[in-house]
Amino acid sequence: MALPKLASLSTSDSNKPHPVALPLAGEIALVTGSGRGLGNIIARKLMALGADIILHDINEEAPARFGEVESLSALAHSMSGQTSRVVAVTGDISDASAIEAMVASAREKLGEISILVNCAGGDIGADGNKPSPATPTNFKLEDLYAVLDRNLIGTMLVCREIAPRMMANKKGSIINIASVLAHYGAPIEISYGCAKAAIVHYTRSLAAELRDCGVRANVVSPGPTMTARFLATRETDPKMRENGSSLIRYAKPEEIADAISFFAGNESRYVTGQVLLIDGGENIFAA
Ligand SMILES: NC(=O)c1ccc[n+]([C@@H]2O[C@H](COP(=O)([O-])OP(=O)(O)OC[C@H]3O[C@@H](n4cnc5c(N)ncnc54)[C@H](O)[C@@H]3O)[C@@H](O)[C@H]2O)c1
Repeated sequence: MALPKLASLSTSDSNKPHPVALPLAGEIALVTGSGRGLGNIIARKLMALGADIILHDINEEAPARFGEVESLSALAHSMSGQTSRVVAVTGDISDASAIEAMVASAREKLGEISILVNCAGGDIGADGNKPSPATPTNFKLEDLYAVLDRNLIGTMLVCREIAPRMMANKKGSIINIASVLAHYGAPIEISYGCAKAAIVHYTRSLAAELRDCGVRANVVSPGPTMTARFLATRETDPKMRENGSSLIRYAKPEEIADAISFFAGNESRYVTGQVLLIDGGENIFAA
């Protein structure tokens, strides 16, 4: 049997460090879209808590798109060799056969997946850029299909591939990433907002199916978050990047990852089918 991963912590009674088991030791986490951006910060957070990590991206090159890292395998190499095992798999999440192969490869490399974070996605249209126009009365059909594919359909297909084994094992936590745009009407980014709103409905329904097996599914809906892609694809307000102690600002990716680690671990063991908006209180209403 593998020994539990340990971290040294000091206690108040003594200055001598006492080794304690890391909270996610023994867990195997797949984070889709973790070659860059928010997904990668989430993967690093789960790794720091002791989980073994399956990095994923659509292909080897995607992590380099905004200059964060050279390639997916270079990233896996740079992250491994610390406390956790780290492997990498590729596959387009809108393609069911690619997902089947990707998940089989992940299981072969590391074992049974117990934490799934569906982070791959984004407001990316048919030509690889932000869809325009994108209002409720004016959008391109090819952009609608592209955005639904990489957000809603991809999330549903990955869950369909992985959740049944979690149910059989009576163990698992799924966290799907939506967006604040899922929760209010706005005449912008219409395909994206619809896709993320549908992810919320799907996750609640999934939670209802999984609860009898002790498997959980929750949603995290971030507000604007300073990933490399976010910063590279728009004009940003310097005050929103850094605003002292005010919460009227963009999120740091680490602030989203902290919430994911709550849903992934034992502290949320009785929480399922829930949605957490993380936006510094910009949208305050019943979700
Ligand atoms: N950054 C923000 O402001 C923000 C806000 C709310 C929600 N989100 C959501 O968070 C997630 C990550 O966003 P990010 O800012 O890190 O963007 P990002 O573009 O850097 O990361 C998205 C990742 O998903 C991968 N991906 C996209 N389509 C894929 C496909 N079809 N198959 C496999 N992989 C695919 C990309 O290659 C990339 O690695 C997305 O779901 C996004 O919608 C981001």
